[in-house]
Amino acid sequence: MGCFATGVTIITLDLEGEVQGMTANAFASVSLDPLLLLVCVDHSAQTHAHLHAKKRFGINILAEHQRVISEYYARLVHSPERAEEESGARFDRTVHGTPILHGALAYLECRLQSAQAAGDHTIFIAEVEDVVVRQGDPLLFFRGKYRRMGQEVAG
Ligand SMILES: Cc1cc2nc3c(=O)[nH]c(=O)nc-3n(C[C@H](O)[C@H](O)[C@H](O)COP(=O)(O)O)c2cc1C
Repeated sequence: MGCFATGVTIITLDLEGEVQGMTANAFASVSLDPLLLLVCVDHSAQTHAHLHAKKRFGINILAEHQRVISEYYARLVHSPERAEEESGARFDRTVHGTPILHGALAYLECRLQSAQAAGDHTIFIAEVEDVVVRQGDPLLFFRGKYRRMGQEVAG
C-alpha cells in the first residue's frame, strides 16, 4: 500500500474543550451527492472510540509545511497541552465546536453516517457538512516517507 501516494490528514475532534487529533492517510472520497468521505481507523487508536462516541469530526488536509504536525499526531502519546509547543499546531473552532487546524490546505466538517468494522480497522463513512479550501501545495506520503509535489506531468 506504500506504493499508493497519498496526502496526509489530521482527524480532529472536540473532547470537552480539548483537541483530540490523529494523523490519517487512509482517507478517500466516497460520494458526490450526497458528499460522503471515508476514513479507516485502527481499533487500538484512541480516536477510534471517540469517533463512535462523538459522531462529529473534522478532516484537515495538510499543507506541505505541516510535516511536524503529522509526526506529532502520529505519536503513540500526544497531548492537547503540548501540541502547539511541540508541533506548532493551532486550532480555531467551527460553529459545531470542531477543531479546525490553522494553515491546512482544506478542512471538511464531518457528521458520522455509518461505521463498518473491517479487520483491525473500522471504516467510518461521514457526510460532509462544510468545506474550507485554501491555496497552497499538499504534504504527500509515499513509501513511508514525506514528499512534496513535483512537476506537472505533461500531456
Ligand atoms: C502518514 C501517516 C498516516 C497514518 N494513517 C493512519 C490511518 O489512516 N489510520 C490509522 O488508524 N492510523 C494511521 N496512522 C497512525 C496513527 O496516526 C497513530 O496510530 C496515532 O498514534 C493514533 O492516535 P490516537 O491513538 O490518539 O488516536 C498514520 C500515521 C502516519 C505517520
